Amino acid sequence: MIDSHLLTAIKVAMQRKGISQRELAVLIGKNETVISRWFAGKVGISSSSVKLLEKALGEKLAQEPTGTKTALITGITGQDGSYLSEFLLEKGYTVHGIIRRSSVDYRERIAHLEGRKNFHLHYADLGDSMSIVKVIAQTRPDEIYNLAAQSHVQVSFDSPEFTADIDAVGVLRILEAVRACGLTHTCRIYQASTSELYGKVEEVPQNENTPFHPYSPYAVAKLYGFWIVKEYREAYNMFCCSGILFNHESERRGETFVTRKITLAAARIAQGRQDKLYLGNMSSLRDWGYAKDYVECMWLILQNKKPEDFVIATGVQHSVREFAYHAFKHIGLELEFRGEGINEEGVCVKDTRKGRHETSLVGKTLIAVSPDFYRPTDVVNLWGDPTKAKAKLGWDPSKTSFEKLVSIMVEHDMAKVAAEGAAAKVRTNLAEYLEKGIVK
Ligand code: GDD
Repeated sequence: MIDSHLLTAIKVAMQRKGISQRELAVLIGKNETVISRWFAGKVGISSSSVKLLEKALGEKLAQEPTGTKTALITGITGQDGSYLSEFLLEKGYTVHGIIRRSSVDYRERIAHLEGRKNFHLHYADLGDSMSIVKVIAQTRPDEIYNLAAQSHVQVSFDSPEFTADIDAVGVLRILEAVRACGLTHTCRIYQASTSELYGKVEEVPQNENTPFHPYSPYAVAKLYGFWIVKEYREAYNMFCCSGILFNHESERRGETFVTRKITLAAARIAQGRQDKLYLGNMSSLRDWGYAKDYVECMWLILQNKKPEDFVIATGVQHSVREFAYHAFKHIGLELEFRGEGINEEGVCVKDTRKGRHETSLVGKTLIAVSPDFYRPTDVVNLWGDPTKAKAKLGWDPSKTSFEKLVSIMVEHDMAKVAAEGAAAKVRTNLAEYLEKGIVK
């Protein structure tokens, strides 16, 4: 049985002592791969190994978390906010989240947490300083995770000013609110930064020392967020850091980001609810990880002994085309890509879908390109180097492989589309919108 509390205790103790995975292996007289397997959750840790670890790290391990910490999460209704909430509640935190007033329900991802004793929601907005000050003064958090943002790169070209207000000045509002509430030296702040900072990349793969070259209004706003966090760290000695996260996806990903757009469309096409998927630049390269794994890293960054910025990525790169190929293949639809640029098509060459289907899709074009999804400037070569996070935080970037991530998302969406039955008409409208490019 793998004890997640024990693993966490080991990682935290390693950070406190500044011991890397390799150094730990030497200290306890084991091969480094043994430790990697522990951290990957592949094998349990025997009691004799726990004794060796306690001796090497000089402290008692395997204790249950104390449960006395308070965290405040902005962007709690998003993919990352929901996973992080689950993660922190599991650790015994009291979790407060900031939500915005809306006449439509957008709390689906956290609905299962509402009503829990240690889970609280507050109305506030990153565009409204007073509301931020009030929530921070009331909750007096030990840790703040600033995940709220206008996070869609293409949308930032349509709403650049709003993007700047929330993604740039919003970060400043949080930092100032923490100071105004007298929490400068007690509250640790995590800023959700992004690989989009590397933009028109100046080196491949990208690490913490790679120069930034933002390439969208979103990235320019996020660059301000990154630098203002660094400035407050240096000017006021605050424990605030940025996680430079590469793309991270999941079955909770927003439906207009490319991975989820693909897995939903693949499921709808396989179940006869959509004819074709339109995409933009299929040659774009990304380093895609599983969001659930990445929230652990956000927390580890704040448990580190000193405030530092970290690249969080898998170190593995794929194209949008490859993601689509694997997603359709997982369902039994094999694609062949023909043509180039705007004329490229993904044609079905093999149909081995399970169950009865009236017509085979062989020979049909299931993916086409639409210029609607091209961006004025596009970031096309993101590939992260997670060496620092691996060594200093003991984080395992290979926990969920690319193939596993695709299968998790596709299987979830196959079940979702199958269950849509009664609401088919409404959902078909959304599918049509996606197909025609009305929704980006
Ligand atoms: N959304 C979308 N829709 N993207 C497409 C499409 C399409 O139909 N076709 C091709 N792409 C390409 C985009 O041009 C881009 O190069 C790539 O797919 C990934 O696009 P997104 O999934 O929208 O994500 P992103 O990389 O722009 O931004 C995401 O990751 C960042 C971290 O690197 C967002 O989550 C950002 O908030 C985050 O900072």
